[in-house]
Amino acid sequence: MKVYVTRKIPESGIKLLKDRGHEVQVSEKDGVLTEEELLSALSEKPYDAVLSLLTDKIDTKAFDAAPNAKIFANYAVGYNNIDIEEANKRGITVTNTPGILTNTVAEHTIALMLSITSRIAEGDRFTRAGKYDGWAPLLLLGTDLKDKTLGILGAGRIGQRVAHIASRGLGMKLCYYDVKQNREFESEYGAKFEVSVDSVLKVADVVTVHVPLLDSTKHLINKERLEMMKESAYLINSSRGPVIDESALVEVLRENKIKGAALDVFEDEPKLAEGLPECENVVITPHIASATEETRGKMSEMAAQNIIDFLEGKTPENKVV
Ligand code: GLV
Ligand code: GLV
Repeated sequence: MKVYVTRKIPESGIKLLKDRGHEVQVSEKDGVLTEEELLSALSEKPYDAVLSLLTDKIDTKAFDAAPNAKIFANYAVGYNNIDIEEANKRGITVTNTPGILTNTVAEHTIALMLSITSRIAEGDRFTRAGKYDGWAPLLLLGTDLKDKTLGILGAGRIGQRVAHIASRGLGMKLCYYDVKQNREFESEYGAKFEVSVDSVLKVADVVTVHVPLLDSTKHLINKERLEMMKESAYLINSSRGPVIDESALVEVLRENKIKGAALDVFEDEPKLAEGLPECENVVITPHIASATEETRGKMSEMAAQNIIDFLEGKTPENKVV
């Protein structure tokens, strides 16, 4: 069968598809396909399956452009780039790559947290700029994490793994809010369930966001909520950019209404909110939380396997709809 892959991904998944005898066409563009390019690529051949990325907008037009493709396998755990309702209506299967990237994203989240609280990125910039003129008692003072409270918004797989490392490794206390209360998680880590997002924001020393992007989570962290945070608190986001009102965050960072933020995702990627890069009290990484060699290879294989199973008439393991 014919499979279209919208961008170069680690070879291991492509090999799996080819080994099963599928004809695989990988986009040759070194970059994200524009909407027009995507639609034209999809309609070039009668593709039976599409392996898409979180940067591809998969909606009515994309489905129309590839009418034979009854599976879109997303190379990501998040699938907010795909019109799930429309897929469901048309009987199109959508899959994602959950689980395998959980620990990798959690490690990156912890790295973001430590780099803002220990001022790693700022210290690196300072040192490289030749500003270091000797040890000083008050130079770049950071914040301890032990016994501080980590507030987790969204205690799914990733949130729980972050909780594990923060609690077992760093000795942090935990509180969380999730649409589903999870007693097992609470007893495992002594995590305290808060009744609302607001109450997490009010008590946490570090807030970390692990919710999917939905209509209900867009700007979950808005100006009003940012202002509920402690002045000494930090905000970490490795989920999806639009969950935070990024311009409001820039204002709050500029006015030192919170201590700092560390972000791997942005509201309008790859653009950054105006003023964000000038803030010293923010650490930013370019949406690389799942980007380890190990994990990106496994994601490639998982997305490919979802396609292989579907094309062989089985239900793919990571079916979303
Ligand atoms: C990355 O952002 C993913 O959703 O896998
Ligand atoms: C969220 O993306 C999760 O997998 O928990």
